[in-house]
Amino acid sequence: MDRLTRVPGLLYGGDWNPEQWPEQVWAEDVKLMAEAGVNLVTVGVFSWARLQPDAYSWDFGWLDRLLDLVHRHGVAVDLATATASPPAWLVRAHPELLPVTADGIRLEFGSRQHYCPSSPAYREAAVRLTRALAERYRHHPALALWHIHNEYGDHVQECFCPASAADFRRWLRERHGTVDELNRSWGTAFWSQHYNSFEQIEPPRTAPGPVNPTQLLDWRRFCSDALLALHRAEKAVLDEVSPGVPVTTNFMSMLKALDYWEWSRHEDLVSDDAYPDPADPRAHVNAAMNYDLMRSLKGGRPWLLMEQAPSAVSWRPVNVPKPPDLHRLWSLQALARGADGVLHFQWRASVAGAEKFHSAMLPHRGTAARGWRQTVRLGAELRRLGEIAGSRLRGQAAVLLDWDSWWALELDDHPSGRMRWLDLLRPWYAALHARGITVDFLPPSAEPDGYPLLFAPNLYLLDTATAERLTRYVRGGGRLVCGPFSGIADRHDHIHPGGHPGPLREPLGIVVDEHWPIPDGTTTAVRLDGTKTESTEPDGTEPGGTELRAEHWSEWIETEGAETLARYTSGPLTGLPAVTRHRYGAGSAWYLSCHLGADVGPVLDLPLAEAGLNAELPGLPPGVEATRRHAADGTGYLFLLNHGPEERQVPLRTPGTDPLTGTDLLTGTPTGDTLTLAPLGAAVIRLPAAQERA
Ligand code: GLA
Repeated sequence: MDRLTRVPGLLYGGDWNPEQWPEQVWAEDVKLMAEAGVNLVTVGVFSWARLQPDAYSWDFGWLDRLLDLVHRHGVAVDLATATASPPAWLVRAHPELLPVTADGIRLEFGSRQHYCPSSPAYREAAVRLTRALAERYRHHPALALWHIHNEYGDHVQECFCPASAADFRRWLRERHGTVDELNRSWGTAFWSQHYNSFEQIEPPRTAPGPVNPTQLLDWRRFCSDALLALHRAEKAVLDEVSPGVPVTTNFMSMLKALDYWEWSRHEDLVSDDAYPDPADPRAHVNAAMNYDLMRSLKGGRPWLLMEQAPSAVSWRPVNVPKPPDLHRLWSLQALARGADGVLHFQWRASVAGAEKFHSAMLPHRGTAARGWRQTVRLGAELRRLGEIAGSRLRGQAAVLLDWDSWWALELDDHPSGRMRWLDLLRPWYAALHARGITVDFLPPSAEPDGYPLLFAPNLYLLDTATAERLTRYVRGGGRLVCGPFSGIADRHDHIHPGGHPGPLREPLGIVVDEHWPIPDGTTTAVRLDGTKTESTEPDGTEPGGTELRAEHWSEWIETEGAETLARYTSGPLTGLPAVTRHRYGAGSAWYLSCHLGADVGPVLDLPLAEAGLNAELPGLPPGVEATRRHAADGTGYLFLLNHGPEERQVPLRTPGTDPLTGTDLLTGTPTGDTLTLAPLGAAVIRLPAAQERA
């Protein structure tokens, strides 16, 4: 990370595509970058055709001049390996490198990411280009960061061509060893799907009916691995030729196709592209969730917001711009959740191509535009916040995220097609966010012991090792809150026999008799009363309690030691337990047998109260987000972000009601008892280490 830490303070800049412009424009670009306080630009993401005009020649002259120019102006470079868009000459020489869909259609040249992840020709050419760039620029003083490829999995996540089929068979051999083992794992006794040899296996192309689910699950795993293998091939070259320069690739927030736990092991720095929709009043909640994941991928280390739009994007059906102050607020939100910089797509607005209506730091109108004033202002504010770089925040609780389980959950032919991971996760996250609770994400392989509370909105696929870890966690005093349709299948997607939730049945103290999906457009009533126990009459008639609505999913469950905290009060399950808690060992295990959607908050309040977890700041007005980063010396940085349209008064007091005294770094003013936040306003308050320790 040495090179990157030489760039002082927070990182600020964007993708710069100078190959789209005559060189005279570059001079203006660097002058304006200095005016805006830009200190890092991403260069060369789509420059392959320019760098390698044909199979026999290279053209680095322009990039030499460009890197020298930015270096003279004090701007560092995040240099891309340019491999995301193979040039026409390569495609025409190797038409087999174009990707093929499940229906057998070969996708054409003319966009980007037109490559098969398993194509030897593509990989060889990509590695050759990466090596040429690394050898030429490894010592260039402008080089601060390598940027491999661009958004793996954005347009092409899978390919069904013969090369992919061969690679899939190789991968299966490595995973299963023998075809007998594969037959067992895939359950091929079903529907006469038995294979005599690996050679008989093909990718899950479009078939007459439902395809073998374990084949589909292995395919998901393979596709994430196939793209990762490409990434690792480039990374290996950079590590070999250009050691000491950190390497990243831009992730796409919570993307189903790629197991980012596995991917992030190969990153020196996690970076993310985030495009919350200004038309969505709840967009900041999803953004917070994605940023918490990015921070968690490397155990809390600072990450980089690699791309965001200064205003509108160009790829939604309707592209709403960001009103004044929203872009600043959302940029600060990334910092509030652990980013050490905010970059953009892109620096200068394109005049041609598919993204010419995408906003840019320097809009088409030039420096007279509102967008330019915003760019300059944000750069100045980030300079004022420079000291927060390197500080960290840690979640008060953790959320389990398992890509394997996500993939398996969303396979077809389940009791309900409405059980989607993000639909299950988002309301839980939103409820925690609304309560001011900050969470970290954890992979299933992690030891959750450092967290008093662990949320698992869904664990459809649960191997016994993970189940044992969770059981130990609860026995040792942890609190596990588990959502419906969990503990169902093993890693081959075979049902755990003997009653759901399989290996979690003992710690949860319940058994599921039957899944009971709720028809679309209807809901089932649930009454929550945290004080009621199993002795409650099972007819659902008790007075009081909180009325909640379950949607899409419910379960007929029976308790086996757990107490009932909520019951179904309408529909066929009336009187049966809906939410339970099992005191187990020194901890407790909670089970929600239904999908409570937006109503889940009051249920989550119970384990939060049991764990004694409160909002970062007591008395936070609605719509105001608060997080706190800490520097190594203990200095605190309290971020207060008003996502609402109204002015808010924020009381600045600790949970112990002592006043919090500090300095708002954005205005340079000392803070008092309360702080007034304008609509879409923000404050970043430095809290002295002594006070933080007290
Ligand atoms: C992604 C890509 C960029 C650009 C932007 C537009 O983030 O990485 O190249 O296409 O989207 O929003």
